[in-house]
Amino acid sequence: MRAKVDPLEIIATSPLARAIASSSVGKSVATKLGVPPTFDLRRGRTLQGGAVSLARLDNSTLLGATLTLLGVEIIDPVVDTPGARTPGESGRPVPPGYEGRLGALVLDLTGLRTVQELEYVRGVLRPAIRSLERSGRIIFVARTPESYDELEPRVLAQGLDGLNRTVAKELRGGATSNLVWVDPETSPEALASTLRFLLEGRSAYVDGQSWRVGVAKVDQDVAQTTRPYDGKIVAITGAARGIGAAIARTFARDGATVVGVDVPASGEALAKVVNDIHGTALQLDITLPDAGERIAEHVAERYGADARLYAVIHNAGITRDRMLVNLDEKGWAAVLDVNLAAQLRMNASLLDGRPGGLADGGSIVGISSTSGIAGNKGQANYATSKAAIVGLVRAMAPKLADRAITINAVGPGFIETEMTAAIPYLQRQIFQRSNSLAQGGKPVDVAETIAYLADPASAAVTGQVVRVCGQALVGQ
Ligand SMILES: NC(=O)c1ccc[n+]([C@@H]2O[C@H](COP(=O)([O-])OP(=O)(O)OC[C@H]3O[C@@H](n4cnc5c(N)ncnc54)[C@H](O)[C@@H]3O)[C@@H](O)[C@H]2O)c1
Repeated sequence: MRAKVDPLEIIATSPLARAIASSSVGKSVATKLGVPPTFDLRRGRTLQGGAVSLARLDNSTLLGATLTLLGVEIIDPVVDTPGARTPGESGRPVPPGYEGRLGALVLDLTGLRTVQELEYVRGVLRPAIRSLERSGRIIFVARTPESYDELEPRVLAQGLDGLNRTVAKELRGGATSNLVWVDPETSPEALASTLRFLLEGRSAYVDGQSWRVGVAKVDQDVAQTTRPYDGKIVAITGAARGIGAAIARTFARDGATVVGVDVPASGEALAKVVNDIHGTALQLDITLPDAGERIAEHVAERYGADARLYAVIHNAGITRDRMLVNLDEKGWAAVLDVNLAAQLRMNASLLDGRPGGLADGGSIVGISSTSGIAGNKGQANYATSKAAIVGLVRAMAPKLADRAITINAVGPGFIETEMTAAIPYLQRQIFQRSNSLAQGGKPVDVAETIAYLADPASAAVTGQVVRVCGQALVGQ
């Protein structure tokens, strides 16, 4: 029987369509349509080139102490004070700016209490945005709204979410803006991993997001190391290709011994990934009822009866896209089983204290999706499973807290992998560009965010979902 082919797909993927899109005429049409050109983002464990400016209200000391811990030098902010502008050559007033390009503006707003104080926030943002380098950073840090009893600071802490999302949309050249809400008791050591992640190129595709850092004891050396996974075993499902292979390589770079898990049919690709990084392969379909037990057995057999997993990364996932009217029980069940039910079963086994299971003080990271957060036509099964991952993380975080196990998820947007290569050409072009960074993300962007969340230095980050989507227009 011949497979059904979408006529639009034929047109969109035709050599003619590709030629038009990459021609100068096509590019100019794209520009006229408001599709900006793409450019390379700063990636990896690299800091910005320009200076880091710290703005703070009410003598707050949290961010200053955190930046000192990370060895980052800071300069004072330039403030756009109304009426204090100098006349330019044209005689018109010139708002103040930085000398040279600015690498990052970090705003410590943990002392924000009144609406009037927001003028200072505007005053430091304006010169900074004018001077920000490519892939520069704006980082807001404020107290969680619920940590205030009084109304005014509480609503202002929430208001910063709108400011952050807007700044992210207005920035250019791969610069990002993100907001971190902290507890009044959050220490510099507990905040350091988050601040370092945001300053570095590891957070390249995280933009316009906000999440919480709570309270946990983090030692100074843990907060400062760049090899957090030395001596730690990490299991990654779906590690043979795409995002899973990038996760495996990123954890190995940071010191981890990786157990890569994938279906037997992907055995060869899996072996290549784990051999490159001196890990071990486990050929396993995670939908088997005893998949969790088999992972634990593998760990105990390969690494000794006392060995425990430090982290489990539930990356394996599938799509079976169909409009709901065409979706039969098989397509429905397959996606829910791989993306959700298997994860629930594996967690139950790996958390029951068995040899080779998850250690106390460890970490679980799942993968949600902007499709799950916003809903997506043709993905009823997938969106259900991915939204459930958000629920799973929120439900389990408090339950695992007394064992000091963190559980978080990432929500990737459009990431360039074999999964998304299957999307028709024109649709893919639109998805790639429909975000504040005007380009698709790379598997490494998701991997870096997962590695940040699972980091022992991120012990105060749990129950969070961090989108890695370049501030996708989908699922605001
Ligand atoms: N690519 C994106 O844009 C995107 C966006 C949002 C979320 N995600 C999620 O990220 C994860 C990885 O996506 P990807 O694009 O790298 O996908 P992919 O299809 O390229 O890779 C998925 C891997 O999981 C493995 N796998 C599938 N079923 C399995 C099973 N039953 N047991 C063991 N392994 C199994 C596959 O063999 C494959 O190696 C998935 O959970 C996906 O839903 C991807």
